[in-house]
Amino acid sequence: MVSETRKIVLAKRPASVISVDDFQMVSETLGRPGDGEVLVHNLWMSVDPYMRLYLGEQNGLHASLPIGEVLTGGAVGQVVESRSSDLPSGSFVISSTMGWREHYIAPAETLTALAADSGPLQRYLGIYGLTGITAFAGIRHVLKPQPGETLFVSGAAGAVGSVAVQLGKIAGARVIGTAGSDEKGRWLTESLGVDAFINYRSEDVASRLAELAPEGLDMVFDNVGGAQLEITIDAMKPKGRIALCGAIAQYEDDNYRAGPANLFATIEKHISITGFNAGFYYDRAPEIISELSSLIDSGRLIWQETIVEGLESAPVAFADMLGGANKGKMLVKLGEPS
Ligand SMILES: NC(=O)c1ccc[n+]([C@@H]2O[C@H](COP(=O)([O-])OP(=O)(O)OC[C@H]3O[C@@H](n4cnc5c(N)ncnc54)[C@H](OP(=O)(O)O)[C@@H]3O)[C@@H](O)[C@H]2O)c1
Repeated sequence: MVSETRKIVLAKRPASVISVDDFQMVSETLGRPGDGEVLVHNLWMSVDPYMRLYLGEQNGLHASLPIGEVLTGGAVGQVVESRSSDLPSGSFVISSTMGWREHYIAPAETLTALAADSGPLQRYLGIYGLTGITAFAGIRHVLKPQPGETLFVSGAAGAVGSVAVQLGKIAGARVIGTAGSDEKGRWLTESLGVDAFINYRSEDVASRLAELAPEGLDMVFDNVGGAQLEITIDAMKPKGRIALCGAIAQYEDDNYRAGPANLFATIEKHISITGFNAGFYYDRAPEIISELSSLIDSGRLIWQETIVEGLESAPVAFADMLGGANKGKMLVKLGEPS
């Protein structure tokens, strides 16, 4: 029987760039599950860019987290005590909010069961979860690349970006990706099939784009916002299309919702911009997961994870992900199934 557990709370509001001192590990005494509830041992948790938004004071899609509150996020776990016939002991479950803790008690109806034979469980926090659904939605439902078109993907070596570039190649597009290190660039071009790479930290993105795509870009899958988004708007062909996925370059700013200064160029060039949110595609999750899984099984899609171990490492993993230490999806392993 589990009686004590640990969780991570917000100790203070980050100044700008987060620091591990902004978080605190605390112990908690757990009760017993009530009728219809289960006690879950978390095995994996996700660290995602959107979590940086609820650590600040701005209320947008994610409400500001009060100081002292436990952080929230996706987690996969195993039921260790059950008072629900829907989720017997031993079941595997995914939750979208119960990360950043080792155990929790929750109503069974708030959790989703995972089949024991559904493959590596952590994939449901990545390629078969938010990451995969986001990349698939942005490429297949928003941009719809045609063979021979040129696609630009920022944040190309991250979780969403690394799937988006490969889906772009599978659709027959020529793909240009940016990331923050030459080592990531080699991975993108040598392993993922990206046609050209720009290191946005060490190279002039605008002049490299002028060399690589002198006729302009047909499509942009924008993960970072800020300066790279402005440069790509200027580098678009007339009637180009942009899928706005995220703006990680702005998440530590006072106003992360600020737009590009050259928006008027989208009028001049008749460019379509579609902001999209993976939450609007979850009703299609079974078909998206099925297609992504076939692509992985047939060797056409590479799924990459960067894994750190232990709840105490979660703040470091989070800060490292925001700083660019990850290739593919950053995950925290919290335990082994029993
Ligand atoms: N619309 C949606 O429904 C949805 C869903 C999920 C995620 N997203 C968004 O998608 C984007 C990627 O998320 P993810 O989970 O796949 O994260 P990720 O790309 O795996 O990790 C974040 C990466 O961002 C890069 N980065 C950090 N600061 C940057 C900066 N100032 N400029 C450029 N790049 C920077 C880092 O790589 P480098 O080494 O390249 O710097 C880092 O590895 C985020 O903007 C996220 O908010 C949107």
